[in-house]
Amino acid sequence: MQSDEVEQEFGVPIPGRILPQEEWARTAVKRLPEAGPLDFGSIFGREAPLMLDLGCGNGRSTLLSALARPEVDHFAIDVLPVVIRYATRRGNQRGLANVRFAVKDAETFVARYVGDASANEVHLYHPQPYHDARQAHRRLVTPRFAVDVHRALKPGGLFVVQTDNPDYWAYMTRLIPHFFDFEEHPDLWPDSPQGRTRREIIALQRGLKVFRGVGRRRNAIDEGQALELARKLPAPTFRTRGPWCDLDRLERESP
Ligand SMILES: C[S@@+](CC[C@H](N)C(=O)[O-])C[C@H]1O[C@@H](n2cnc3c(N)ncnc32)[C@H](O)[C@@H]1O
Repeated sequence: MQSDEVEQEFGVPIPGRILPQEEWARTAVKRLPEAGPLDFGSIFGREAPLMLDLGCGNGRSTLLSALARPEVDHFAIDVLPVVIRYATRRGNQRGLANVRFAVKDAETFVARYVGDASANEVHLYHPQPYHDARQAHRRLVTPRFAVDVHRALKPGGLFVVQTDNPDYWAYMTRLIPHFFDFEEHPDLWPDSPQGRTRREIIALQRGLKVFRGVGRRRNAIDEGQALELARKLPAPTFRTRGPWCDLDRLERESP
């Protein structure tokens, strides 16, 4: 790829341009320390608002936000090393000093590596719904996870969530408002009407409905109350099936 070419996936440009090599950045965090929390100020070399992108896949949403908001630092993780390799390469090639990518599962990352009230935004796009009932325990959005996101966010911080799975969405929209003032955002994102993420692009191109929402941290609840509340809320044991199952298979074929 020439440095002036625009990369595309599914006909939609990947945000940003590949810079000459001497301008590339180093966005990979190869190893997280044994114990957290992370010192994001020293990682980025400045104190700046922090956005976390959980299960970032190939990093499209992170790149989009990081290019549009150079004043915000972005830490993105995914459990799958291959997608982080794609994300890192693109972040490096775009010279993004305000981005880091690491391989980690989101539950551990938020619980262990993100200190209390340290993030301004947590973004979660298309967490895996796990159609097989035997895998339901792997679903990311649970009452405990909501408590951890709530704790990790600064007062008034944002939890941005999105899925094309109606059953997961039904669960999320019952759970999240306990901890966040939550508003559904049915319209396309104005910053990326073709889709902020790879999965959103595929879903829209296949004619699936995409569910989006933004939650603002409810500051009246402290961590003890949030934990108490979480104990009473149901686990994500919903059943799910539909056209999005095929899409999930397609997605797994190439990052
Ligand atoms: C359907 S893809 C969505 C990727 C991207 N956010 C998008 O919207 O295109 C789900 C992603 O979540 C990652 N993932 C699954 N379980 C995870 C976990 N527990 N922690 C972090 N990432 C996870 C997968 O590796 C995959 O990249």
